[in-house]
Amino acid sequence: MDIVRTRTELHQRVTHWHAQGEKIGVVPTMGSLHNGHMALVRALDGKATRRIVSVFVNPIQFNNPEDFSLYPRGLEADAALLEQTGGVDVLYAPDENEMYPQGFCTRVLISGMDTVLCGADRPGHFDGVATVVTKLLLQSGADIAAFGEKDYQQLGIIRRLVADLDLPVSILPVPTVRDPDGLALSSRNRRLSVTARQQAATLPSALKACLAALRAGQPVPTSLETCRTTLASAGFDVHYLDLMHEDTLKPATQAGPGTRLFVAATLDGIRLIDNMPTL
Ligand code: PAF
Repeated sequence: MDIVRTRTELHQRVTHWHAQGEKIGVVPTMGSLHNGHMALVRALDGKATRRIVSVFVNPIQFNNPEDFSLYPRGLEADAALLEQTGGVDVLYAPDENEMYPQGFCTRVLISGMDTVLCGADRPGHFDGVATVVTKLLLQSGADIAAFGEKDYQQLGIIRRLVADLDLPVSILPVPTVRDPDGLALSSRNRRLSVTARQQAATLPSALKACLAALRAGQPVPTSLETCRTTLASAGFDVHYLDLMHEDTLKPATQAGPGTRLFVAATLDGIRLIDNMPTL
């Protein structure tokens, strides 16, 4: 695996690969890689003949400078994990100046799907994601790009932007990878204290209990309220807990096919998100 730092070098590689008829897969990440990311890499098995993993902590998707500065970073460890996993041709790790050179002033703006859930209290977040993902998809010349269902809203927005901007790439959704206690893998989990990490398992278990209640026919508001109470008792500050239609991200009044529970909650100062389909 080669580490590539510049757009020019990446462009040379992908032009050569395309000329050879190779199919390029990309996994955009912000680094601090874990098994969830490795599942994204493996999901490209049989679908791409060349694989690129990008690592770039994107400043324009953070609306809190402290969150940006505290975001875990470690390119050496990332490279080691990718080498161990195998099958990755290029680790693309541009710096900020390479991604946003002097004078950069363009944004890909999302309208509608970005004002709910994670977008409601993080204005501009998804515009930052959409901008960098568009750039990464174009820079990598990817035929296919893998994104995790853990960031379900992000996945939906990226699918939409690829369709809306006619980007010649297919989006591969990859199911969430969880620790044995059910907590969805996330780079942020590393920032939890030992005690908070134990408590964090309440997030997926409360969601599962809520799903069971919904499937048993309990009304949506009651089921959500019980779940909120469970999470608050376990020390979570719940930002949102909503039942939504997964395609449109519009609120659902009834659980059924195509609806999904979405949650964001802070524990010990760390923001965790999760989602589960109702059926
Ligand atoms: O999900 C992430 O890690 C980031 O939002 C992404 C898609 C790499 C864009 O910076």
